[in-house]
Amino acid sequence: MSKKVVLILGASGGIGKALTQEFIKDASIQLALHYHTNQINTPEGDALKKYQANLCVENEVQSLINKVKQDFGRIDSVINGAGVSLSGMSWKTDADQWQQTLNVNLTAPFLVTKFVLPIMRAQNFGRIIYMSSIVAQTGVRTLWPYKNNCQGGRQQKHYC
Ligand SMILES: NC(=O)c1ccc[n+]([C@@H]2O[C@H](COP(=O)([O-])OP(=O)(O)OC[C@H]3O[C@@H](n4cnc5c(N)ncnc54)[C@H](OP(=O)(O)O)[C@@H]3O)[C@@H](O)[C@H]2O)c1
Repeated sequence: MSKKVVLILGASGGIGKALTQEFIKDASIQLALHYHTNQINTPEGDALKKYQANLCVENEVQSLINKVKQDFGRIDSVINGAGVSLSGMSWKTDADQWQQTLNVNLTAPFLVTKFVLPIMRAQNFGRIIYMSSIVAQTGVRTLWPYKNNCQGGRQQKHYC
């Protein structure tokens, strides 16, 4: 049986690193690790490759997905651990910061889905996992932009 190919987005972050540590122990999995600005220390090999991309930029996402497919031949699962948390009161929040949060937390998952789904459909198999947060349900006073993003993310999964 061929090995499953798992793409971890945001593998340089806290959750991404923890996921990598677990998946790396499984010999039946090949790992594609994505980072944006912070390099990943884990060494590359046949079963592990690293990719840099800004997930808010459409052609970078397209090229990332294409490279992973080219290197491993398929993409079975995508786990999206890339995200940002904007905290602050509305009257102290820049529109640019708000937009950047939307770009990373909502637009990036859309772009990833757009380019990976045709590959998964052609394989007749695929899993996409997006991170949200408990904040989407509970709310936290200064985390309202994050709450909105997380709620948006929860809706997005219904429209893949
Ligand atoms: N930690 C928690 O307790 C918790 C709880 C609930 C939900 N979450 C959600 O889970 C996700 C991951 O959390 P975390 O704690 O692991 O966050 P983190 O440590 O801050 O990591 C964030 C990741 O997102 C990547 N990233 C940020 N902007 C990007 C961009 N424009 N393009 C591509 N990648 C980008 C970062 O890449 P670089 O570092 O390489 O720049 C990093 O890998 C987030 O969506 C967070 O909201 C976290």
